[in-house]
Amino acid sequence: MILKKYKIFDKTIILRYPRSSDAQDLMNLINSLVKEGADIAKSKPVTIQEEKLWLKDTITSIKNKEKIIILAEMDSVCVGSCEVTKDTYDVSRHVGTLGIGIIKQARGIGIGTTLIKTTLDEAKKKLGLELVKLYVFDSNNIGRSIYVELGFKEIGRIPKGVYHNKKYKDDIIMAKTL
Ligand SMILES: CC(C)(COP(=O)(O)OP(=O)(O)OC[C@H]1O[C@@H](n2cnc3c(N)ncnc32)[C@H](O)[C@@H]1OP(=O)(O)O)[C@@H](O)C(=O)NCCC(=O)NCCS
Repeated sequence: MILKKYKIFDKTIILRYPRSSDAQDLMNLINSLVKEGADIAKSKPVTIQEEKLWLKDTITSIKNKEKIIILAEMDSVCVGSCEVTKDTYDVSRHVGTLGIGIIKQARGIGIGTTLIKTTLDEAKKKLGLELVKLYVFDSNNIGRSIYVELGFKEIGRIPKGVYHNKKYKDDIIMAKTL
C-alpha cells in the first residue's frame, strides 16, 4: 500500500508498506549501513535467508497490528526504512520503539524526516500507540538533531551502553508523546 508519492528534484519518492519481494533490497539496505559502520544496533551483515525470514515475520506482525514498517523508494529502489514495534509487556502496550536507516546516497534531502513523520502517524492510527521511544548513540549527531526537530526529548542515557566500532558509547533514550 502506497502512503505518499512526491518528487525531490527529478527523483520520485514513494513511501509504502513492504511486500515479500523486498527481501533483497532490504538486505542491501541493512548491509550497506553495516559496511559503512553507521550508528545502528547491527554490526554484522545479514544473509538473504535471514532477511527473507525476518521479512516474513515482519509482514505477519504488521497484519497482527504489532508493528509498522514503512519503506522509502527513490526511483523504484528501496533507499530507507522506518519501523515502530509495539511493546510486548502488558503494562506498556501503549508504547512503541522506533528505528530508521537511509542509505548514504539518499541522505540530507528530507526523506528521513518525512519517513519518520509518516511512520509515527501510522503507529498512532493503526497500533493505537500513545508514546514512542528510541535509542540513539551519543556519537550520532545527525540522528539526534533530527529526532529533537521532530519533538523527541532525551529522557535518559546509559553510560557506555553500546560497544560500536571499537569504542564504548553512551546509549541515549529519547521519547515523544503521540
Ligand atoms: C539519521 C538519518 C535517518 C537521517 O535521514 P535523512 O534523510 O538524511 O534526514 P533529512 O534529510 O530528513 O534531514 C533532517 C535533518 O537532519 C540534519 N541533517 C541531515 N543530513 C545532514 C548532514 N549531512 N549534515 C548535517 N545535518 C544533517 C539536518 O538538520 C536536517 O534538517 P534540515 O532539513 O534543516 O537540513 C540518516 O542520516 C541515516 O539513516 N543515518 C544512518 C543510520 C542511522 O543513524 N539511523 C538512526 C539510528 S538511531
